[in-house]
Amino acid sequence: MTYQDIMEQARGTMGAYCKVCPVCNGRACKNQLPGPGAKGVGDTAMRNYEKWQEIRVNMDTISENRPVDTSLSLFGKTFRYPFFAGPVGAVNLHYGEKYNDMEYNQILVKACSENGIAAFTGDGTNPAVMEAASKAIAAEHGNGIPTIKPWNVDTLREKYELVKMSGSFAVAMDVDGAGLPFLKNLDPPAGSKTVEELRVIAKAVGVPFIVKGVMTVRGARKAQEAGAAAIVVSNHGGRVLDQCPATAEVLGEIADAMRGSGMKIFVDGGIRSGVDVLKALALGADAAVIARPFVTAVYGGAEEGVKIYIEKIGAELADAMEMCGVHDLKSITREMIRLPR
Ligand SMILES: Cc1cc2nc3c(=O)[nH]c(=O)nc-3n(C[C@H](O)[C@H](O)[C@H](O)COP(=O)(O)O)c2cc1C
Repeated sequence: MTYQDIMEQARGTMGAYCKVCPVCNGRACKNQLPGPGAKGVGDTAMRNYEKWQEIRVNMDTISENRPVDTSLSLFGKTFRYPFFAGPVGAVNLHYGEKYNDMEYNQILVKACSENGIAAFTGDGTNPAVMEAASKAIAAEHGNGIPTIKPWNVDTLREKYELVKMSGSFAVAMDVDGAGLPFLKNLDPPAGSKTVEELRVIAKAVGVPFIVKGVMTVRGARKAQEAGAAAIVVSNHGGRVLDQCPATAEVLGEIADAMRGSGMKIFVDGGIRSGVDVLKALALGADAAVIARPFVTAVYGGAEEGVKIYIEKIGAELADAMEMCGVHDLKSITREMIRLPR
């Protein structure tokens, strides 16, 4: 199977909204919700993609000719590449009936783990989703990151038990899920969390806690105050608020402000190639997260599709590192990119 085969096989199986575009840039699905699109006019998702493309990479081939090391050490584990599969929930609603969340996470977690990276898993109103995701992560000896929605306190207690059972090496919460209508409509309502509430959650999960959905230096400082081990600079792919800046526009200032704090930084939103991963690291991220294209990989090729997609992005990253004259991730600096003026 090739990447082209995956794309072809995905076409026609991904529901009414996803067009399986050659590049997943938020245009064809735009403001399509349900579907893989974004809120409002769909502008944030498109901007996420476009702002990575405006950053260019500086070539430097006057350097040693030896293989590059793309491996990442994080939270006591070593990964083959500095990127992860992002959490996607309600796949049958947004992408069609070929898979439900339980089946989707099962394939994704296993295939990512077997190919040297890890997957974040999504969460939903159906408790069986987190239950199945926790089992899938447990089967991979904890190599996955359950991502809990910002539920009300009682629901959170049930979720803690599940994530503990999974043995996962980290746990995330998409605090920006506060912008999802279905959470607001719950009784008692779920949604945004205070620093104090996040501190309680960070302690309760008992492993490194990742706050997903931070877009400002102020937000990053609050996450740090709450005891987060990491943040994901993310606007939820534009699905929770329209007219946000792109993640590529805010990553640099957040990374600068957090330098030396010990807090790790992930970033997602429109990252579509290994070159984009290099740009993210050059701006100060420790790792990138890619969400929508992994759905295409699963729908188009199941485990093998995920393997091929990981290898594609990994090979592009290795090539970009070689062409920029760096041999390990630590040597990637901002000098390697040219920002738009
Ligand atoms: C259909 C769909 C469902 C999503 N579900 C979740 C979720 O359950 N939890 C979460 O933290 N993020 C969720 N996200 C957001 C992604 O994890 C990610 O932040 C966003 O899509 C940006 O990355 P991308 O541009 O690579 O897709 C979802 C995104 C999509 C498109």
